[in-house]
Amino acid sequence: MIAQEIAPKILSVGVKDWDRRLFDELIPLPDGTTYNSYLILGSEKTALIDTVDPTKSHELISNLERAGAPAPRIDYVIANHAEQDHSGSIPDILARFPNAKVVTNEKCKGFLADLLLIKNEHFLTIQDGESLSLGDKTLEFHFTPWVHWPETMVTYLKENKILFSCDFFGSHLADSHLFVHDEYKVLADAKRYYAEIMMPFRVAIKKNIEKVETLDVKIIAPSHGPLYDKPRLIIDAYKDWISDRLENIVVVAYVSMHDSTRHMVDHLVDRLIAKGVGVKPFNLTRTDLGDLAMALVDAATVIIGTPTVLAGPHPAAVYAASLVNALKPKTKYATIIGSYGWGGKAVETIKNNLNNLKLELLEPVFCKGHPQEQDFLALDRLADEIADRHKPFMREF
Ligand code: FEO
Repeated sequence: MIAQEIAPKILSVGVKDWDRRLFDELIPLPDGTTYNSYLILGSEKTALIDTVDPTKSHELISNLERAGAPAPRIDYVIANHAEQDHSGSIPDILARFPNAKVVTNEKCKGFLADLLLIKNEHFLTIQDGESLSLGDKTLEFHFTPWVHWPETMVTYLKENKILFSCDFFGSHLADSHLFVHDEYKVLADAKRYYAEIMMPFRVAIKKNIEKVETLDVKIIAPSHGPLYDKPRLIIDAYKDWISDRLENIVVVAYVSMHDSTRHMVDHLVDRLIAKGVGVKPFNLTRTDLGDLAMALVDAATVIIGTPTVLAGPHPAAVYAASLVNALKPKTKYATIIGSYGWGGKAVETIKNNLNNLKLELLEPVFCKGHPQEQDFLALDRLADEIADRHKPFMREF
């Protein structure tokens, strides 16, 4: 990829990873991703803001060499975040530009020393709010912990009013356009990214948005996905996602081995729709976990559906419950439905796997073998209860 100009002497030199389909060996990437890195050519000093995934180091270095005006020289490497998709090429950059200093906060320095074995003499540590002059350009550092790790920070280029936000406001979207081109598509991918990466940190994000809003920002340049030349687009979307607003949606994450649980799910879904409740069912043997995570952002209720396997829930249901538990959506209600043959602890196990969540657990519906009339009646009562609980959100659907 060639470097792309954001403004005079400010270049995007990162890498698009069109083919990557899995992140952290967990998160599906239907649209690939990018590792954005930015070169700021000040009148006296040159800074590189974040690097790229270590698998793409050679592309970053090639981009820097081709962009080199003046001759390729890096004085500072700004590390906004220690995760390797942004920091992993720092050792290669230091090998190529041995006089460069890694500029970051004390906590990030510790992570970089642990993860990448970068030695103490390479670092220049900065404090929250501190500035660094590049001559005619000034970088200002603002600590924004927990977007995504505890050390995360953003860098603000004062003269050009550009916020380099790293993971914050990012999206896993490889796109030929440097700036947002298709707002609908970018917001969908940014919501997916928020759901998978940021949702557990809603409270921290609120504080960090307030901090960012004290700055006069004209461009947000994240380290994944397109840049925003209308910053309100993504800031307002984040404000909505982190708000307490819930939608009249039930997420049903289920797995069924011999159709008993599926019959229950089908019956419940039909009944909920008939009662005016929105439903998003996810068959866990087929679903994209990113789609499931996205649905959790606004859903008022989550239902886990599982058969009983070896005296417990199906492993796919345990996985889904653990994921919900880890992502900490603002969901208010949950329950469990499913079937068993001769006993087991499926309900207790799923309940325990949701123990991070502050929600009301509705009465589970579990049946022996194939669901019968009394089981369908119990599902009808559950649908009535959910519809009643969802009344405050009905207008949102
Ligand atoms: Fe894109 Fe938390 O790394």
